[in-house]
Amino acid sequence: MNTVLVCVVLVALAVATAAQDPASSWLSYAEYSADDSITFLAANWTVPAYPSDKFASRAPGFWISVENADNTYLVQPILAFGDGDLHYTCFNGWFVWSGPHAGWHQSQAFKVVPGDAIYASITYLPSTDEYEMYIACEAKGQSVTTKVPAQGVKYPLSYFVVEHQSSCSGLPADGKVTWTNIEVEVANNRVTPTWQAKQEDPVCSSQAHILSPSSIQVTWDA
Ligand SMILES: *[C@@H]1O[C@H](CO)[C@@H](O)[C@H](O)[C@H]1NC(C)=O
Repeated sequence: MNTVLVCVVLVALAVATAAQDPASSWLSYAEYSADDSITFLAANWTVPAYPSDKFASRAPGFWISVENADNTYLVQPILAFGDGDLHYTCFNGWFVWSGPHAGWHQSQAFKVVPGDAIYASITYLPSTDEYEMYIACEAKGQSVTTKVPAQGVKYPLSYFVVEHQSSCSGLPADGKVTWTNIEVEVANNRVTPTWQAKQEDPVCSSQAHILSPSSIQVTWDA
């Protein structure tokens, strides 16, 4: 009898941990946990170098996000390499772990090259209970704007993430990505966020570094 109960509990735990963020595909990341919903988030970063072996890539991604407290609705403007063809692209992503919108939703993408300046923002729209994602390479006149339903819950979490295990030669050869000029509003008030550097499944000695409340870097051995 006890054995049966233990088995049931283990299965339930396995399902719970397999169905929310942080996902096992994350390497290193920074987390901010606010005491209310994040209503605005923005950051600048620069497209890193190409991987030394473009064919070793498993689509590494470099993204900012807001997420609900249950870690099931992830709103994420993304810079990725090799998402499809072997070049860098910017697009908006929405990963929903469960419920009526469950699944992966991805906007149209635009191509960028190493050195391009990227800016992304996530803005809560109270009149429609939506998040609006914007990712741009403004110097080249490129951007994508995407609205997604917030689904009636608060989003107190933000993650800045490097995702997707790769051989080290499949990660950008300059070994780092740096987000700067990070702006956060909680319940429409500008805040000074307290970021925590975290590891999920780091490869290639990846590591997040909190440079300041407005700057986060992730490094790895390329
Ligand atoms: C961030 O990006 C915006 C939009 O492209 C740009 O106007 C601004 O100068 C950038 N800020 C920094 C610090 O790079």
